[in-house]
Amino acid sequence: MAFNKPSSTIKTQFVCSNCGATSAKWTGKCNSCNSWNTFAEEEVAKKKSGIAVTTLSAKTAKNIGEIKSNSEPRIVLAENELNTLFGGGIVKGSLILFAGEPGIGKSTLMLQVALQNAQLKVLYISGEESEAQIKLRSERLKYKSDNCYIFSETCVEFITSEVERIQPDIIIVDSIQTVYSNNIDALPGSISQIRETASALMDLAKQRNIAIFLIGHITKDGAIAGPKLLEHLVDVVLQFEGDKNNNLRFVRSYKNRFGNTNELVIYEMTSTGLEENTNPSDLLITKFDADRTGIAISCCVEGSRPILMETQALVSSAVYGTPQRSSTGFDYKRLNMLLAILERRCGFRLAMKDVFLNIAGGIRTEDPAIDLSVVCAILSSNEDIPISPKICFAGEIGLSGEIRPSQKIESKINEASRLGFESIIVSKYHPKLIKNSNIKINEVGNVSELLSLVFG
Ligand code: TYD
Ligand code: MG
Repeated sequence: MAFNKPSSTIKTQFVCSNCGATSAKWTGKCNSCNSWNTFAEEEVAKKKSGIAVTTLSAKTAKNIGEIKSNSEPRIVLAENELNTLFGGGIVKGSLILFAGEPGIGKSTLMLQVALQNAQLKVLYISGEESEAQIKLRSERLKYKSDNCYIFSETCVEFITSEVERIQPDIIIVDSIQTVYSNNIDALPGSISQIRETASALMDLAKQRNIAIFLIGHITKDGAIAGPKLLEHLVDVVLQFEGDKNNNLRFVRSYKNRFGNTNELVIYEMTSTGLEENTNPSDLLITKFDADRTGIAISCCVEGSRPILMETQALVSSAVYGTPQRSSTGFDYKRLNMLLAILERRCGFRLAMKDVFLNIAGGIRTEDPAIDLSVVCAILSSNEDIPISPKICFAGEIGLSGEIRPSQKIESKINEASRLGFESIIVSKYHPKLIKNSNIKINEVGNVSELLSLVFG
């Protein structure tokens, strides 16, 4: 209980479950991350004693020129896309956090990676499912491997000794919230247990040169359950995203000490596991009739890949005093900003309207080039004028209503042309734009020009 007075022998502290900040007494609001009701009481982990503190270190500082760089040896997986996500294979000795909502397919993908790479010895540690359950799941997948070991155990000390025996190349821990260490008297999933077990596994990865995947659950608001510390500690953070009602799944890298971030791999969930999808635009855009309003197609770049996405908007008169705004797959604050631009720069009265925005297919993008299609979808719904399904958009909108150039514009134009679009609307401020003879490129400088081009 959070308010119980601790007995004199056991020292306790209160730890914020969001950011890991500690406090001697319970508080409602965390002063460090400003979240409410996140403090829980935990026993203070005992510090090691008997280490003599000395001012003399055996190590000395080296000049950077003298240090030999050894390119990290990488484990190359059977699947090309996953290798790209890691920047050319998994670095040996790295600790990878693989986070996602429950039921999205984390265990399925990890088991699939284990079975698909029969050349690698993989130890799959599960604290969530029994060995028989995992076997049952493996029978649904189309890969077989004689080199995959399943271990249903949650104590990190037993895991370490089993690793010594099996000597795997890759370890998968499903999930970090279920493992515990005997050194600490706290429940599995508590902040001190996650901290202790993750650093024990980190030591194991570095000492034995094994790549370790930690599967982690995500809370309702999208944060990785457990302290932020986990994100700082690991080398790579991957997030598994998607709409559970839709078959498309997206794996994104948010942090990568050995390669690019914001790479994206797209999978389709099938009855025999996850299948790589290299042409997602087909699934993201529905073939719609030319008279449907509130739809605009955008061409964005995710990682290194151009993807066409369908932006859907619905604008209706507000039923309640305060208009509702809702956004799926697009930043809510940015939606409000674009609405303010339409109001101030173009004189549209949207302040008393409900606005709903959705990026179809469960994809989420951070490429600001989607702005143009968001604005056009909103106005198409507001004015009840359809936009031709043969036009697509790529451009960012600035606060003064100017259309700003977007990154990798050539690959966006080529992708739109490949998929049979007749014209693409882009910013006129691109320093040099390579023309493509198969698609008409319309250049616009501000929102008014955009609107007169699209809506006449
Ligand atoms: P799971 O990997 O258990 O999710 P997580 O570990 O993230 O909680 O995924 C479970 C979902 O995947 C479940 O709803 C069923 C679906 N699934 C398939 O559609 N096809 C398959 O081949 C498998 C194994 C699972
Ligand atoms: Mg699972």
